[in-house]
Amino acid sequence: MMTADGRFVDTAGDRMVFAKGLGWLRVKPLQGASIQALVLEWYRKTWYADRTREEVLREVSDRWKGGPDALFVAELPNGTPVAAVGVDHTHAKGGAAVISHLYVDPKYRGRSLGSSMVGCAEDHLRLLHRPDVLLYCDPGLVDFYRKLGYTEHPTPSGGGEDASEDPPVTTMIKTLLAAR
Ligand SMILES: CC(C)(COP(=O)(O)OP(=O)(O)OC[C@H]1O[C@@H](n2cnc3c(N)ncnc32)[C@H](O)[C@@H]1OP(=O)(O)O)[C@@H](O)C(=O)NCCC(=O)NCCS
Repeated sequence: MMTADGRFVDTAGDRMVFAKGLGWLRVKPLQGASIQALVLEWYRKTWYADRTREEVLREVSDRWKGGPDALFVAELPNGTPVAAVGVDHTHAKGGAAVISHLYVDPKYRGRSLGSSMVGCAEDHLRLLHRPDVLLYCDPGLVDFYRKLGYTEHPTPSGGGEDASEDPPVTTMIKTLLAAR
């Protein structure tokens, strides 16, 4: 099935994204130890600079250890990861699942990979019949997520772990499935 915004989901559930200049890339849902070292390194540099590689591996393996939670990774045909995004329910607030850890290799930004990866995560949640999704972002990324249909939301009471940390974050939400 081709989605309106240029993603492809085959009948087995495998996903593909189209990136300008790269063509169709396979997106794998990964969990635990199968998450590539390069992805862990992106995350260490971006969000966990104060932690060791082993600590980041533990954090990532715990967060996406199985069940409906997964880290979606887009790969070049040779298996090199170029983008990733996570979906988890551990940090869900008020019934909404959480999309987090969106990252595109700097070499491949501006080719719509970031937007398509968010779309992959949303497709996954729709298949799980999750009506809402929530994310925490740097205030500088509000416009990026607005373009994808997200709106700013006051941080839910109790906040997510990410919402309570410095620097300040903006909580954004999106309705994935219309109420019946
Ligand atoms: C944010 C990020 C994922 C965007 O990836 P990308 O593949 O370059 O994004 P896209 O090509 O899909 O961009 C889609 C649109 O958003 C815009 N956009 C991209 N990055 C943006 C940013 N930082 N701020 C505002 N707009 C942005 C693009 O210009 C494009 O606009 P257009 O549709 O008018 O051309 C990437 O810059 C990244 O990995 N950043 C570091 C990690 C990070 O901040 N992750 C977000 C965690 S909440």
